[in-house]
Amino acid sequence: MELNSSRSLIVLRLSSALSALFTVIQAILIIIRVATGATLIGVHGMVGYLSLLSMITATIAAYVWFRKGGSKGLVMHAGGVAVLMLIQIGLGQAKVAPVHVALGIVIVLGAIALATLAYRKPGGAV
Ligand code: HEM
Repeated sequence: MELNSSRSLIVLRLSSALSALFTVIQAILIIIRVATGATLIGVHGMVGYLSLLSMITATIAAYVWFRKGGSKGLVMHAGGVAVLMLIQIGLGQAKVAPVHVALGIVIVLGAIALATLAYRKPGGAV
């Protein structure tokens, strides 16, 4: 099967896009909470676990794709964001809000960047 249409790349694309979507939803939930005072932290936390789960899936898919000749950079990128998400969940539960919010912005951007790379140039700059 051609490298750029292999099943592992399709899984990587879908799971990284899903994870990026979840992180954007998390940011929107916090904005709604700040704007309206609604109690949305529980939902935000639940979506956080879904973000992590889909990023772990993306990391595994990126690794399988790398073993078939794909890019190592995407494995490192997905794995790095997954580790940041683990730290982020700890910070959220420990209620270390300022660091959590700053890291949250990095994670949202990192997850969007991963999905964009996986769709547009998964093999690198070439
Ligand atoms: C821009 C992005 C984000 C913002 C602005 C944000 C903001 C917050 C805030 C303000 C809290 C409450 C802290 C407190 O009670 O003092 C919180 C809790 C939490 N956040 Fe985030 N967060 C973001 C992204 C994330 C991400 C990406 C994850 C996980 C991957 C995550 C997981 C959690 C968890 C598990 C909690 C604890 C929920 C609970 O107490 O039930 N957050 N977040």
